[in-house]
Amino acid sequence: MEAIILAGGFGTRLRPFTFTRAKSLLPILNEPMIAHLIKTLPKKVDTVVLAVNYRREQIEEYFCSHDFGRTIIVNEEPEPLGTGGAVKFAEKHIVGNFFVLNADIICSLNLGEMLRFHERKKAVATISLWPVENVSEFGVVDIRNDGAITKFVEKPKAEDAPSDLINAGAYLLEPQVLNYIESGKLVSMEKEIFPQIIQNTGRFFGYKFQGHWIDVGRISSYLSVHRLLLEKQKKTFIQGEQCNVYGKLQLSCVGNKVTVGKNSSIDSSVLFDEVVVGENVTMDHCVIGQNVTIGDGVMLRNVAVGDNESIRQGTSLENAVVWNQPIPEGYPSKQIGNVIGE
Ligand code: GDD
Ligand code: MG
Repeated sequence: MEAIILAGGFGTRLRPFTFTRAKSLLPILNEPMIAHLIKTLPKKVDTVVLAVNYRREQIEEYFCSHDFGRTIIVNEEPEPLGTGGAVKFAEKHIVGNFFVLNADIICSLNLGEMLRFHERKKAVATISLWPVENVSEFGVVDIRNDGAITKFVEKPKAEDAPSDLINAGAYLLEPQVLNYIESGKLVSMEKEIFPQIIQNTGRFFGYKFQGHWIDVGRISSYLSVHRLLLEKQKKTFIQGEQCNVYGKLQLSCVGNKVTVGKNSSIDSSVLFDEVVVGENVTMDHCVIGQNVTIGDGVMLRNVAVGDNESIRQGTSLENAVVWNQPIPEGYPSKQIGNVIGE
């Protein structure tokens, strides 16, 4: 069985970290987000198709040096084709029914149970569902008691939302779904394909689950996912290899080869590899990119510092993004991804 992981897109809401890396390679507890996702796939899935475009070479490099016991196919679109277009572009690798997973979700969904639900319902498509309070950034469904979805609206205004149940970003599809998608075109699965399947087949189902669900789409949710996973593992911090930590880490995660100087206090933050933090530094709710240097006496609160930046000693910053390097060529100035036609 195959799983397509939608790992293209620029991750614009996670800049400056996505200026330099593919969103799916952002570390979560020191391991790329995409590795967490692959580990949740049922044994039955022996082939993983990575639908990529931006920073394809980084993803390829990561999978060359890490073995997941499955065939990994890096399927690069010539240009971003949207969530539907990317699935169609992977058609040549699909044999029977298959999973499609958004790469930016960390959750407790059991895909094996979802597969059994799909088979029991004889569904053409099953999507995972999760309840949220503010639905307007998601795909929202109307669902019957038997689990059949009667309506799917992508990013509706709050007053137009049919329920509080959102598309949680994991699908199980029968191959016939591919016939609804035109090849080589920018197509949104959520806006263009799902509504047609509901209308034409009446066999579009929703699978609800318990536990946790976080869309790691923004820096704030990137920090929340760390807090949640640290609490689940009952750890107050995690640190990588070859670190020299003389200060205090609280609900934080630091990568490999990180130094934290004396009397420094790091709270609810994530530091990537090779970060050097001086002495008497206070940090709260920050994400610090790879190879960043932070001088003595710095105070940071709600700050994102991009890779290879440095923060001069004594600086105080709040609610800021630090990026003083050129923006990579071709990087969009506004959000793209599946928000086609807005
Ligand atoms: N290969 C490829 N090509 N992947 C893409 C492309 C593309 O052109 N565009 C987006 N993706 C990938 C993204 O990397 C992400 O993993 C996934 O497709 C969804 O795109 P996002 O841009 O993150 O969409 P979203 O977060 O606004 O909304 C989606 O996720 C929500 C749940 O988090 C939708 O599926 C919503 O319906 C859903 O509720
Ligand atoms: Mg997303």
